Amino acid sequence: MDRLGRPLHDLRISVIDACNFRCPYCMPAEVYGESYRFLPAGEMLSFEEITRVAGLFAAQGVRKVKLTGGEPLLRPWLPELVERLRAVPGIDDLALITNGAYLPRMAAPLRAAGLARLTVSLDSLDEETFQRMNGRAHRLAPVLDGIRAAEQAGFSGIKLNAVVIRGMNDGQVLDLVRRFRGTGHVVRFIEYMDVGTKNGWTPDRVVPSRETLDLIAREFPVQPVQPAYRGEVASRYRFTDGGGEIGFISSVSQPFCRDCTRIRLSADGRLYTCLFAVDGFDLRRLLRGGATDEEIRERIRVVWSRRADRYSEERAHRRQQPAAAGGKVEMYTIGG
Ligand code: GTP
Ligand code: 5AD
Ligand code: SF4
Ligand code: SF4
Repeated sequence: MDRLGRPLHDLRISVIDACNFRCPYCMPAEVYGESYRFLPAGEMLSFEEITRVAGLFAAQGVRKVKLTGGEPLLRPWLPELVERLRAVPGIDDLALITNGAYLPRMAAPLRAAGLARLTVSLDSLDEETFQRMNGRAHRLAPVLDGIRAAEQAGFSGIKLNAVVIRGMNDGQVLDLVRRFRGTGHVVRFIEYMDVGTKNGWTPDRVVPSRETLDLIAREFPVQPVQPAYRGEVASRYRFTDGGGEIGFISSVSQPFCRDCTRIRLSADGRLYTCLFAVDGFDLRRLLRGGATDEEIRERIRVVWSRRADRYSEERAHRRQQPAAAGGKVEMYTIGG
């Protein structure tokens, strides 16, 4: 348990910090130009190191692992990592979140390697808005093809994440709902968050989930679904006509820190106990310094037991940026 009585249950592993997209809410193109230098290969944890760490976390009670980035499909030989993580005793849920652009060729190998679940970020079905929101004018078609490739490879109940930003894609919420109703996939609307320090976040660009829900419910009646487990990030709703489910991730308007059981491992081996953390614990130094499993496990235990993070709740209560807002880590470093 951490200092607020929360158990450690999920590990989110960023396998690479680089990304082919430049979403303005994460890695604005003005800041991350062509010559921006991401981590060199030698600074990223190797598959051996990641698998070892995952095993040690599993021994501390972690059951759920999510692979993220940057864009995880840019990491060479990713299916090999999936295969290794599948074999770690104790981890019973292995998922991945991607922007989808490389899914057309990667969906089948990832499935074959044993990846269980998939989330694809998809902010808009409108070509122009999609291109603006990925910051590099990448076309929409490969992502839609990627979702199809994933279906064909055997993934079902794919989660489709849309960050809703006022004045950018808030007019396209219903398109996403219409497109994926009845497919078995689940569109989830994410409130725009003040992660990192580079995205120029302002509260007026956040569309509260309540507003998005009301808009949807006017056309498609929904009813709430009970959380499947304590600490579920998304609030879920089902269409009353049997058209499936949608979800809302409302970190700004309805923070869920109270049940936050997640720890994050960055590509360079730092451990962060909050998405809005300023600093992480350098696990790579231990790994490369010859620490024993016992020493690392103990360190993980200490890091978690000292944890008191509740950034989003603090933001909500104080109605201003929490004290730690200054040097926050960026989303592509820590993983979404
Ligand atoms: P599943 O287990 O696949 O349902 O994952 P999830 O519900 O945790 O969702 P996913 O991994 O798709 O994460 C969705 C988004 O929710 C992330 O990209 C973040 O934007 C946000 N999110 C996830 N975890 C946290 C968290 O601990 N705090 C905050 N503030 N936001 C989070
Ligand atoms: N606010 C909300 N969600 C964000 N994501 C990235 N940056 C932000 C932000 N500032 C989401 C992405 C993706 C996931 C990895 O995190 O859209 O779905
Ligand atoms: Fe890349 Fe995801 Fe960040 Fe967009 S949100 S720039 S796809 S890491
Ligand atoms: Fe967890 Fe930090 Fe997000 Fe709160 S703000 S839910 S403590 S990651």
